[in-house]
Amino acid sequence: MSKIDLNDVMFETMVIHAGQEPDKGTGALSTPIFQTSTFCFETVEEGAAKFSKEIPGYVYSRGGNPTNRALELKCAALEGGEDCVATASGMGAIGAVLLGLVKTGDHIVCGDTIYGGTSVVMRTNMPDLGIDVTFVDTTKPEEVEKAINEKTKVIYFETVTNPTLKLADIEEIAKIAKKHGVKLVVDNTFSPPPILSPLKLGADFVIHSVTKYINGHGDVIGGVIIGPKDDIAVIRGNYVTKICGTPPSPFNSYLVMRGMKTLPIRVREHCKNAMEMAEYLEKSEYVKTVYYPGLKSHPQHELAKKMLNGMYTGMIAFELKDDVKGLSAFEAGKKFLNNLKIASIAVSLGDPDTLIEHPASMTHASVPPESRLEVGITDGLIRLSVGLENVKDLIKDFEQSFAKL
Ligand SMILES: Cc1ncc(COP(=O)(O)O)c(C=O)c1O
Repeated sequence: MSKIDLNDVMFETMVIHAGQEPDKGTGALSTPIFQTSTFCFETVEEGAAKFSKEIPGYVYSRGGNPTNRALELKCAALEGGEDCVATASGMGAIGAVLLGLVKTGDHIVCGDTIYGGTSVVMRTNMPDLGIDVTFVDTTKPEEVEKAINEKTKVIYFETVTNPTLKLADIEEIAKIAKKHGVKLVVDNTFSPPPILSPLKLGADFVIHSVTKYINGHGDVIGGVIIGPKDDIAVIRGNYVTKICGTPPSPFNSYLVMRGMKTLPIRVREHCKNAMEMAEYLEKSEYVKTVYYPGLKSHPQHELAKKMLNGMYTGMIAFELKDDVKGLSAFEAGKKFLNNLKIASIAVSLGDPDTLIEHPASMTHASVPPESRLEVGITDGLIRLSVGLENVKDLIKDFEQSFAKL
């Protein structure tokens, strides 16, 4: 048994120790990778009792696995939630939480700026299942309230939106959700603790693509849903997680836990580098607009100061000026990305490596062009995930690429 009272230690200590105890059989400090599909029973009676949940225990890894469970407990502690269910991807987490909370005939109020994959779920898959979705600008809580009707079961948004870095006032929207008896589900992928803890502000569920900052090493696809114990038990047993089979592999869970031990250190450094990059870009003669919540020019900088714990994420979006050496912002952007040497042209985010991409043709290509433009995802928009390289090298890389425009 761990001797640590997790409620009595600071965040950095908690995130290292939560969910993990020395292995009972061997004393191994690091959680073993239980790379097994099934678990043996001493007797038929024991198997039957475990199947019927009369006694606790593992049966089959689609329903539960000790390495996956350690990750779940660590992520529940990370977000300050009662329980967690881990999934094989962030999209698995989004599918499982939504289909755990809504059914045909229900209605979802959804943020208008969301990851492209989530947009497909909300614009196509949910309506195909007879679930209505209304998109709203979540920077305006009054718009969220106006969109609620008697069929609304869920309000869903990204805490810091992909890709334009908009913020929603979680506390305000949580009050609205409670008033109307609606569940608030947020995707906190862009701003994991220690940046932002949505459950403490009143959200009911937090999901993460742990693929990103939480694993932090660019070598895993994974997701988690964190929320109240009883609801998580229902989601764990629903047809997405259990029947369609969305659990992660134990090896991936091991890697994510390994990454999480350095989460606070990494996140602080990502945010520090991003702040410096955002200030550099804002001064650049080639750049028209920079979207970064840490900049005073960000329309919600005051909310960011209040909500984001003095760190403003490692993500930046920016647009180049039109007519740089006769090029459109889109053409200049393409040339700029193609000439970078340190930053890799790639989707995903939160890796040690700096990644840069073009949302309109990549992460958000599946969003209808008119909906994209309405929320500022123009053809010239560039999304940057600032890595952990020395920021001076990143600036040098950008300088040499701008010079080639
Ligand atoms: C904000 C956000 N949520 C969810 C996802 C989906 O996660 P995954 O790729 O792990 O399925 C992504 C992927 O980029 C994302 O950016």
